[in-house]
Amino acid sequence: MQITINQLIQAKQEKRQIVVLTAYDFAMAQILDRVGIDIILVGDSLAMVALGYETTLPVTLDEMVHHAKAVRRGVKQSLVVVDLPFLSYQESPQQAMHSAGRVLKETGAQAVKLEGGNPAIAHTVSVLTSVGIPVMGHVGLTPQSVHQLGYRKQGKTAESGDRILAEAIALQDAGAFAIVLEHIPADLAAQISQKLIIPTIGIGAGPHCDGQVLVINDLLGLSVRLPPFAKAYTNLREIISEAVQNYCADVREGRFPE
Ligand code: KIV
Repeated sequence: MQITINQLIQAKQEKRQIVVLTAYDFAMAQILDRVGIDIILVGDSLAMVALGYETTLPVTLDEMVHHAKAVRRGVKQSLVVVDLPFLSYQESPQQAMHSAGRVLKETGAQAVKLEGGNPAIAHTVSVLTSVGIPVMGHVGLTPQSVHQLGYRKQGKTAESGDRILAEAIALQDAGAFAIVLEHIPADLAAQISQKLIIPTIGIGAGPHCDGQVLVINDLLGLSVRLPPFAKAYTNLREIISEAVQNYCADVREGRFPE
């Protein structure tokens, strides 16, 4: 049985942490699903960690849909959320409806995520949720605004903290079912998590959120540079390099095939 949005809200009420990871392909999605990850996010971090771009901006809706279809084929239980990429939703609520509709219809994912919480974005979220499209919000450091914000921690002053809190409340009021809080002070994340009925999912936002998300490549030690708030649980770059070196040596020295 697939995890539902109501179960996530119940998890918050029962103080059970929600576990979220990104995935970009079938094989990884199958592993995460079987381990029991609550939400698999086909993040637009795809642009950087799987497609080799410098930022998340270049990835297209077609590319997101392509990868989300592969992820969805590997999943039986986790809730699958797909990022709407840069400029696939900011133009108008109609553009957002078209993009989110494509994601749900073509990939079989259950929800979309979009960045920001200003009044225009909150309005877009209310339009999407009014037609039954579940939306996850994302405030704090929003990588699609890298050319304005950089990758710096957000919400460090009282004024910007208040703005992020107001954005989170506006997104909840617009019908978002959860909100990612990225790279903000832990006490601000705690305050937002306490104020909201819907779950907050933190990344670089301290331990007081209702769940946590990491980019799978960071967790596995595949990323060359790790964000300061990420944690590598293994070093797959080394493990894969060693396996490939062993294969090279076996082929070159006639040990494989036997
Ligand atoms: O694109 C992504 O992977 C994300 C997570 C870091 C939350 O948005």
